[in-house]
Amino acid sequence: MTTSAYTLPERGLPPDEVLRRVREVRAKDPAFERGQMTAYSMMGSHDLQSVLEDAYGIYFFQNALIRRFLPGMRQMEEQLRAITTDLLSGGKPGVRVNFTSGGSESLFCGFHAAREWAREQYPHITQPEVVAPYSAHATITKACHYLGLKLTRVPVGKDYRADVGAMAAAIGPNTIALAGSAPSWPYGKIDPISEIAALGQRRNLWVHVDACVGGYIAPFVARLGYPLRAWDFSVPGVKSISADLHKYAYAPKPASTIAYASEELLEYHNVPASDWPSATYLTEGMIGSRPAGAIAASWAAFHYLGEDGFLDYAKRTMETKERLVQGLERLGMKPWDTELCVLLFETAELPAEAVVGALTDAGWPCMGTQRPPLVQLIVDPLVENVVDEYLADLERILQQLRSGKSFKKGDLGYAD
Ligand SMILES: Cc1ncc(COP(=O)(O)O)c(C=O)c1O
Repeated sequence: MTTSAYTLPERGLPPDEVLRRVREVRAKDPAFERGQMTAYSMMGSHDLQSVLEDAYGIYFFQNALIRRFLPGMRQMEEQLRAITTDLLSGGKPGVRVNFTSGGSESLFCGFHAAREWAREQYPHITQPEVVAPYSAHATITKACHYLGLKLTRVPVGKDYRADVGAMAAAIGPNTIALAGSAPSWPYGKIDPISEIAALGQRRNLWVHVDACVGGYIAPFVARLGYPLRAWDFSVPGVKSISADLHKYAYAPKPASTIAYASEELLEYHNVPASDWPSATYLTEGMIGSRPAGAIAASWAAFHYLGEDGFLDYAKRTMETKERLVQGLERLGMKPWDTELCVLLFETAELPAEAVVGALTDAGWPCMGTQRPPLVQLIVDPLVENVVDEYLADLERILQQLRSGKSFKKGDLGYAD
């Protein structure tokens, strides 16, 4: 007897039929690999995509849990660490990097290390607290929840960046850590990391920089000459940085990194477990079994693109963003002055939810910021191919909305 509406087929299907069905279902979903500007689908151009697919496939079934079983994979991971160290260290020696499954795991690990560090620094604190700007990613709320840390979010300044004075005022006797973003997801601004880190140094607090979005694009945008605030380990007092490979290192998911300012700080990341019958269990991050394919594909992205490829991608991303900004202004929208690849715009007299709903219906699924209401576009090198099409569709949508044609309200958020 079956209890669910959908059940395991009684007999297995032929491979062609299985794949036909997968493709049929896939056709219902947007072709993100075409270039879409949607959150969480950042990708490089089609030639890179196909190299990464093949690289992932070579290690498709391999588990990177026990590295000594896969010396080749281990070598690739070491090389990934070295490249990431160069990109995030800002010239500071001693930086250490671990590979994780995404921004959420990187942040979890960073705050876990902060908590373990604080247990040594402040053994009397039994209810540790973290102070972060309102704009810090929701994942920090999750990480703090899992780790038993109390998170205090502090209003941002008029410029929508962390208000460091307000953060200082929020520090209490149980505060162990501060956080800032490079850039923040809801506002697309790099927080004043130097000031946050200086505050952290004065008060002996752990400082984490969430560079999940910016970590792998900011170094190249800076080299192109765009003025950016300092955010990496060149800033004294920064103890950990999260940076996602599956965002602007164009790798397939799940791939991210958590970096620590020194070997000594990395020790707080590790949880060697030996209180069981088998030998000591020590993993790279919070998860156990993990896909070697993601490591191979991340390695392939760095080596296919090289430094000149990353610079070219950064240039094309920034130029495409500028084209979009000009197009949006022409259509009466109000783009914000954001940094790097996050583009946000106010929808003038129209509700942002209506614009998001109509764009999503027209094949441009998107989200936005709720406070204040903004539509969010995430620009990557693929987007240059679809800017004109996007702006033409948006123009039509705006005309329809302005002429009073009703549209269903879109969802700015994540809950569904
Ligand atoms: C700044 C920031 N931090 C953390 C995350 C969480 O990353 P993930 O979805 O890879 O877990 C995101 C996702 O967009 C982000 O923008």
